[in-house]
Amino acid sequence: MRLKVLSDKAKEAIEVQFPSYPDKRSVLLPALRIAQEEIGYLSESAMIDVADLLGLTPVQVYEVATFYSQYNLKPVGKYLIQVCKTLSCALVGAGSIVTYLQEKLGIRTGETTSDGLFTLKLVECLAACGSAPMMQINDRYYEQLTPEKMDRILEDLKRDGKSPLATGPFMLPVMGERS
Ligand code: FES
Repeated sequence: MRLKVLSDKAKEAIEVQFPSYPDKRSVLLPALRIAQEEIGYLSESAMIDVADLLGLTPVQVYEVATFYSQYNLKPVGKYLIQVCKTLSCALVGAGSIVTYLQEKLGIRTGETTSDGLFTLKLVECLAACGSAPMMQINDRYYEQLTPEKMDRILEDLKRDGKSPLATGPFMLPVMGERS
């Protein structure tokens, strides 16, 4: 089968999942994750490739990809900042965290900085309610946020590509560590 955009490596990473699931279509969530890891987001062509591999229609893939906030349907920056907006975080200042990040980065939610480094997104509860307010950047969590902490995190990421203030990762990459 000739795929549009996914590499042989991604195809193999998807196919190796098949024995762990009752049928091919059940591999959809990990397959989308693998496609996103490879391309950075889920383009139409990537979703068509996933559909072909799993014997689904592109619409069936699209329905799932648009349901979960973990999947990006357009390119994102090197660092995807996802701020939790759900109740526990909202009660202790998630709104001001978002405002602070918007002003500091010069973007609104859903946008990416002009240097391609940061994308800002709002998401529902990330299950770290006890250390709210919090945000996830790529695969790491940053908790009990304050403006000072956010300044340091952003500077660490720009300078070193990582920050000691992170916790996690909570999901291991399927195809290899992202930078
Ligand atoms: S409400 Fe924010 S992590 Fe649960």
